[in-house]
Amino acid sequence: MTLRAPELDFDPCDTLAALCKAGGDPLRLNVLRALSNDSFGVLELAQIFAIGQSGMSHHLKVLAQAGLVATRREGNAIFYRRALPNGRLHAALLEDIDELPLPGDVQARIATVHQQRATVSRDFFARMASSFQAQQDLIAGLPQYRDSLLALLDALHFAPGATALEIGPGDGAFLPELAQRFAQVTALDNSPAMLELASQRCAAEGLHNVELKLADALQDEQQPADCVVLNMVLHHFATPAEAFRKLAGLVAPGGSLLLSELCSHDQSWAREACGDLWLGFEQEDLARWATAAGLTPGESLYIGLKNGFQIQLRHFAKPDAHSAFSLRQERNR
Ligand SMILES: C[S@@+](CC[C@H](N)C(=O)[O-])C[C@H]1O[C@@H](n2cnc3c(N)ncnc32)[C@H](O)[C@@H]1O
Repeated sequence: MTLRAPELDFDPCDTLAALCKAGGDPLRLNVLRALSNDSFGVLELAQIFAIGQSGMSHHLKVLAQAGLVATRREGNAIFYRRALPNGRLHAALLEDIDELPLPGDVQARIATVHQQRATVSRDFFARMASSFQAQQDLIAGLPQYRDSLLALLDALHFAPGATALEIGPGDGAFLPELAQRFAQVTALDNSPAMLELASQRCAAEGLHNVELKLADALQDEQQPADCVVLNMVLHHFATPAEAFRKLAGLVAPGGSLLLSELCSHDQSWAREACGDLWLGFEQEDLARWATAAGLTPGESLYIGLKNGFQIQLRHFAKPDAHSAFSLRQERNR
């Protein structure tokens, strides 16, 4: 007599039951809250919630089984993020969670994790300034996308008196292009060593309308500009999704954010060799984060490199005061 394994029937209630089980625990709800606009590795989450790694892994498994979190592989590491809402209960749960404040100690430990990420990035540029160009060329140097970026920039037809802000100019290779096209250019970098390289470039090229500033783009206040440019910088930010809100605030109404970034990749050596915190980004994520920050996705260009990396050049527009008002009216209708 042959024994047959009992057939497992999928019960439509299973999905709801998994959701209710996952939501039935305050710690898991707080994990979802912490993931509202960020992604963390299991070790980071264990640190943030001050519990052991195996305990956190268990909670993440329950959340994943309920479809509440999704994973993204970043080289050897796995990062957890919220899954997009699937169903009314799921959406309502996230909406309610987002209205709750995170406990103060959890917020403080999230800030510590962000600080640790930012320190890794800052230390890298402090150490590597002397071999900067060689490091850049390992993945994607400006010459490989300069012409496409300029085509995107020139198609935007900025007015003669327009201003530009470059965040993370590195050795300043793109500054001559901006100086030629804008009345006033500000370049800010949080690395004194990199700023020194940019300053040497400005002196060598005789750029008189470029002001260099030592500042952190995510922390320090800055005057908005008509065009904000970031070339290969976003993947060095501790909180890229959150950064879009700050970046949107730096764009003057009616202005533009131009972003050169790597597409999502799995070459984890880039972390050590180039100080990258994130292994590129999905194009939909950039559009979603920009839209949430009040920017409108515009033209994009994609460039495949011989070394297997792919570059995305993205334009996001900030509505002017009049269209922002009409947009709000339309949404409220
Ligand atoms: C990979 S380099 C890119 C340099 C240049 N844009 C290029 O494409 O060659 C990243 C630059 O961003 C700067 N950076 C990283 N995080 C920053 C922050 N939070 N605020 C300002 N600059 C930052 C680094 O110091 C570095 O100069």
